[in-house]
Amino acid sequence: MSMLQPRDPMGIYQILFAFAKETGSYIGDPGTRPMSQGFPLTTRVPGGPELPSSLPVTHLDRMYPKADGTPALKKAIAGYYNRHYGCQLTTDNVMLFAGGRPGLVALLWMMQKDLRISIEETEYTPYWDMLRHCGREWTIVPSNEQNRFRPSLDDHRKAHKDSGAARQMLLRSNPGNPTGVTLQPSDLDKLSAWTRESSFAALIDEAYEFFAEPPMSVLAHVKNIDEHNLFVIGAATKGLQAPGARTGWVIGPSKELETLKNFSSYGMGGISQLSQNYVLQLFEQSHIDAARHAISKFYGSQRHRYCEALKSLGFVDYTGTGGFYCWMKLPNGLTAAEFNRRLFRQKAAILPGELCDMQRRGEASPLRHFIRVSFGPRTVEDFDGDIAAIKAALQG
Ligand SMILES: Cc1ncc(COP(=O)(O)O)c(C=O)c1O
Repeated sequence: MSMLQPRDPMGIYQILFAFAKETGSYIGDPGTRPMSQGFPLTTRVPGGPELPSSLPVTHLDRMYPKADGTPALKKAIAGYYNRHYGCQLTTDNVMLFAGGRPGLVALLWMMQKDLRISIEETEYTPYWDMLRHCGREWTIVPSNEQNRFRPSLDDHRKAHKDSGAARQMLLRSNPGNPTGVTLQPSDLDKLSAWTRESSFAALIDEAYEFFAEPPMSVLAHVKNIDEHNLFVIGAATKGLQAPGARTGWVIGPSKELETLKNFSSYGMGGISQLSQNYVLQLFEQSHIDAARHAISKFYGSQRHRYCEALKSLGFVDYTGTGGFYCWMKLPNGLTAAEFNRRLFRQKAAILPGELCDMQRRGEASPLRHFIRVSFGPRTVEDFDGDIAAIKAALQG
C-alpha cells in the first residue's frame, strides 16, 4: 500500500503528458506551438524594457531570508501599489511567497472553517485542486454560455445566501483565467465596500494585473486595507515576465498577515533571497512602469489579433478584455479533446475547456466544446503559423 494519497497533477499537466506521448517532444520545445501554456514571453516585448540579466551575490544572500520577505522587496511592492493605485500599504501589508499558487494555498489552508468560498463555475484550473485538498467548502456561481461567462458580483451574493452559510469568501481571478472577463472599476468599488462588512471577505487573484487596458487592481478602491476583509494575490510570473523567479505575494490586512507569516516559520522558511533580489530589480520604478505600459499594450494587440482570426475561422468568441487567452467555442459541435488530438499532429496544443470546470464534470462538462488558446508565450512572428495549425486542425 502506498504511503501517499493518490493525487492527480493539475489539469494542464495532463495535456503536457499526452502531448509528449503523442509527439515525442515536450510542449514548448523548439518547433512546437504551446498555445496550452499559461506563461508569458520571457524576452523583451515590443516597446518594453530590457530585462535585467545579471545578479550580484554576496554572503548575505546565502543566509536564511526573512520569513515574510526581504524588507527592500516588500517596500518596493508596497510603494508600487501606492504609486499606481493610491492605496496606503505598508510593508506590514505584504508577504512574499514562491509564486502566486503557494500564496493561494497557504491562505486557503489557514482560512477559518466557517468561511464558505464562492467561486465561478469557469475558473483557473488549480483552484479546484486547492479547494479540495485544503478541505474547503465552496459554492458554485453559474458562469457559462447562458450568462456569457459574465456573472455579476450580486450573483456571488445570491449563490452564497442560497447556501445558508454565514460568512462568505469570494475567490476570483481578475482578469479571469481562462475567460479574460475583467471586473470593471464600478464592480471593484462595490466589492471593496462589501469587504468592510463582517460577514463578507474576498480573495482577488491579480496575476494578470498588467494584461488589461489599463492595468487594474481592486487596491485602487481601497484606502486602508487594514479596515477590509481582503486579500490580493500578485506575482512576478506574468506581467514582470519572470515565471522562473518563482516570486509572488499576498497583500492583506496587517493583523491577518501577522498570522500568515507563521506559515513561513514552520512550512516554508522564506523564499529564495536570490529570486527576491532579481525581482527587486524588476520593481525598479523605471523598469516596472515601462513594463506595465508595454505589456498592457502588446498583449492587448495580440488579444485582438488572435481572437479576430479565430472568429473568422468560425469559433464563437466569449473572451473578455483582459489576460492572454482567447476563450472560444468550437464550431460544428467539435469537442476540445478531439480538436487537441488533431492539433498534436501540428505539434500544437490548447487547453480544453472542461479543465476549467469548477464542477469537474469531465466528458459531461458543457465546457468540453470550449477552448482556451494562450498567446502568452507567442511572438508576433508565431502568429501566422499558429493560425494555420488551428485551421488545419479544424479541417480534420
Ligand atoms: C489566475 C492565476 N493565478 C495565479 C497564477 C500564478 O502562478 P505562479 O504560481 O506560477 O506564480 C497563475 C498562473 O498561471 C494564474 O493563471
